[in-house]
Amino acid sequence: MNPVPRRSDSGSSGGENGEGLVLVTGANGYLGRELSRRFLADGMEVVLAVRSSTARSDVAAALGPLAERARFVAVDLTEAEPFAAVHPALRRRITSVVHGAAVTRFNVDREVAALVNVEGTRHALALARSCPELESFTLVGTVYSSGLQVGRIAEEAHSDEAGFANFYEWSKWEAEQLVLAQADELPWRVLRVATVAADDDTGAVTHHNAFHETLKLCFYGLLALLPGCGDTPLYFVTRAFAVDAVRRLTDPACPGGIYHVAHDRSASITLDQLLDIAFEEFESVDDFRKKRILRPLLADEESFDLMVDGVTGFAGSLVTQALANVAPFARQLYVTKDLDNSRLRSALHDYEAPDAASLVRATCHQLVATRWGRRAAHV
Ligand SMILES: NC(=O)c1ccc[n+]([C@@H]2O[C@H](COP(=O)([O-])OP(=O)(O)OC[C@H]3O[C@@H](n4cnc5c(N)ncnc54)[C@H](OP(=O)(O)O)[C@@H]3O)[C@@H](O)[C@H]2O)c1
Repeated sequence: MNPVPRRSDSGSSGGENGEGLVLVTGANGYLGRELSRRFLADGMEVVLAVRSSTARSDVAAALGPLAERARFVAVDLTEAEPFAAVHPALRRRITSVVHGAAVTRFNVDREVAALVNVEGTRHALALARSCPELESFTLVGTVYSSGLQVGRIAEEAHSDEAGFANFYEWSKWEAEQLVLAQADELPWRVLRVATVAADDDTGAVTHHNAFHETLKLCFYGLLALLPGCGDTPLYFVTRAFAVDAVRRLTDPACPGGIYHVAHDRSASITLDQLLDIAFEEFESVDDFRKKRILRPLLADEESFDLMVDGVTGFAGSLVTQALANVAPFARQLYVTKDLDNSRLRSALHDYEAPDAASLVRATCHQLVATRWGRRAAHV
């Protein structure tokens, strides 16, 4: 399973010295965009794989002058040969492939998850194998590829015995299996990222995921019950941390293998602590206090399932929609994971664990101040 170095001649070329050509999939995504910016800022040649002209324009606008040095290729992972536009002359120069494209919705169905997240990874691996100068192939993964596994989660391959909360998790696990099956042929990395709570330590949020949407439902009083155990640890990172870690771990000089781009249990926060902080921030708002919205009760797994089943007859109601948002990851909130990040710590010598409570407080503060992106932050 040890990642193999591909070039034995002149050492690595994709380091922070600005050499090398990296192809990034999902380059217009939340993480992909900032990762692309980082590679360009480091002076690397970058090929940005995006699937639409709108995505191309958006990412070019976001990158500003840096985009002038980027090359774009059209890649739709649902197509039979998604990387056909990456022509042989370009393949000969690619030194790194960073595969971040994926359907990231927790309610994705099995068919789409299999097509984009699993088969898409198979195609990205085939592309990587066709690049003779390749020095690193990186799958941007998730800590939830561990599914419903409890206890210590090592930076190692997982089995699928515990099952998964949703097809997103399952598909990211399957994608890892594809990489691991080719471990002897490629200089690979699987970088399992934790939930991104905010852009950076200020708590600014420019991309909403299930975490932010659930807090929104609580703020507007649409969730009287939440799934989960109060002492379940939750693992958050900032995008700034994730992008910096992914950038450095893709460097060919860094040993390959599996890394958790995550903090360990000592820097996690429990569901109870998260709700305490969130409701303290919510209470600072007059409108919220006036409505006397109560903190949701934590339901055991059986009660929550019963409630989800019970409201399915009321399709279209606000409560049903709120539950539909939460249900796909509900089972994770009963699972106590103890994430290990020893490999990450030894690879990033300046690693420091952050204060999870401060990040959650700053994030809740920004979400409330901007009303989840609808207002300017100073309000
Ligand atoms: N953000 C997190 O909290 C988090 C946590 C753990 C792991 N991750 C992993 O990090 C990676 C990036 O996540 P993100 O948060 O940046 O997600 P995102 O904003 O949803 O970006 C996903 C990217 O994948 C692309 N994509 C989706 N379907 C595609 C297709 N059929 N063909 C080509 N491209 C396609 C999207 O392009 P379109 O815009 O055209 O759809 C977009 O560029 C994912 O692999 C995710 O599993 C993220």
